Amino acid sequence: MSVEKTNQSWGGRFSEPVDAFVARFTASVDFDKRLYRHDIMGSMAHATMLAKVGVLSDAERDTIIDGLKQIQNEIEAGTFDWRVDLEDVHMNIEARLTDRIGVTGKKLHTGRSRNDQVATDIRLWLRDEIDLILAEITRLQQGLLGLAEAEADTIMPGFTHLQTAQPVTFGHHLLAWFEMLSRDYERLVDCRKRANRMPLGSAALAGTTYPIDRTITCELLGFEAISGNSLDGVSDRDFAIEFCAAAAVAMMHLSRFSEELVLWTSAQFQFIDLPDRFCTGSSIMPQKKNPDVPELVRGKSGRVFGHLAGLLTLMKGQPLAYNKDNQEDKEPLFDAADTLRDSLRAFADMVPAIKPKREIMREAARRGFSTATDLADYLVRRGLPFRDCHEIVGHAVKYGVDSGKDLAEMSLDELRQFSDQIDDDVFAVLTLEGSVNARDHIGGTAPNQVRAAVVRGKELLAAR
Ligand code: ARG
Repeated sequence: MSVEKTNQSWGGRFSEPVDAFVARFTASVDFDKRLYRHDIMGSMAHATMLAKVGVLSDAERDTIIDGLKQIQNEIEAGTFDWRVDLEDVHMNIEARLTDRIGVTGKKLHTGRSRNDQVATDIRLWLRDEIDLILAEITRLQQGLLGLAEAEADTIMPGFTHLQTAQPVTFGHHLLAWFEMLSRDYERLVDCRKRANRMPLGSAALAGTTYPIDRTITCELLGFEAISGNSLDGVSDRDFAIEFCAAAAVAMMHLSRFSEELVLWTSAQFQFIDLPDRFCTGSSIMPQKKNPDVPELVRGKSGRVFGHLAGLLTLMKGQPLAYNKDNQEDKEPLFDAADTLRDSLRAFADMVPAIKPKREIMREAARRGFSTATDLADYLVRRGLPFRDCHEIVGHAVKYGVDSGKDLAEMSLDELRQFSDQIDDDVFAVLTLEGSVNARDHIGGTAPNQVRAAVVRGKELLAAR
């Protein structure tokens, strides 16, 4: 029986070619070819190490490295012939290497396995992706700082339960997003540390009989550490899960942010305008300008949450060490990274272009009794217990609802119906400026605290 169509890398023990559908079903090249650069990087380091320890000659090493460089050029020029029958990126590149340089190409795989090779490739790839994502987070944070600085004095209603609660400054509100992104940044930096450990040298599962020196490959590839157990090295994917977890939290933040932008651009709120280039129209309703970018980011958060659940499920039943299940790690991981990066990019482009409608925000804060807590605090300063003040102000608000007046619009006599402790100086407290300026401590909404937070934020970014 012909074995011609069977993969040459492992066809030796087979007596019939692999079923054509099974070949396609088990292949990963369609998606793992995107690891080519990191695969070649890993192979070059491996060949260099093999020559240092005397397993390859220097001439063989040079031929291999030169061949790999040519292959990288072919791939980047789009002339590389990716073959599904060669299963994955690793065997495509190795087969092409042997085509190009002959028998020396077959020596590259000495002392390694695709199991440690792929584990190494994904970690190298993810490390680079995290760096790109971190740069986008920083760019978005810069935009938030710029807008927060410009809007440190802009007053808007702050909400709880989406009901008007207390006045806040728009700058303060924006800096809440800055804080969340700072934590997303930290989570990814932390995840990068654990991704940055080298499984190469674990070989198939047990290590290798060749006198490899893993410190050489570790150094060449810029890993922070060498994985300490070969079984764990080839099979661990918790770094990918951790990345998806960090990505899911970041997408959750962007989704909440999106939700606010969608609300704020609506005719009911009208707090901000988004430039036309971030919106689209309707094919039927001529008046529509839809906030598609935030809507889509909000929608895309779902797929990243799904990838996290998918990877956890992928791993939960796997005995040690490598199993083919692991091939399913790539598409979710790639998509989580792409989705997060694109979403951050869209936000980093869009946030500096947000145009606040200050008068409308201010008017919204003025309505809705947003300074009621300030009146209660005023009475506390007059010596009344807070619970009593709460009740007094409650009555004043009820009167305001019935008479259509905000607290600041009531006369002193009207206010004094509820407590004789109220004097002329109450009006300073009931103004929006008085309210925000009074919250003058670290983390408070007062404009000068917003400016101080912007300074701290700039220092944080400068230290990255
Ligand atoms: N394409 C495989 C993957 O992504 C590479 C490792 C295959 N190893 C094996 N023993 N079949 O996981």
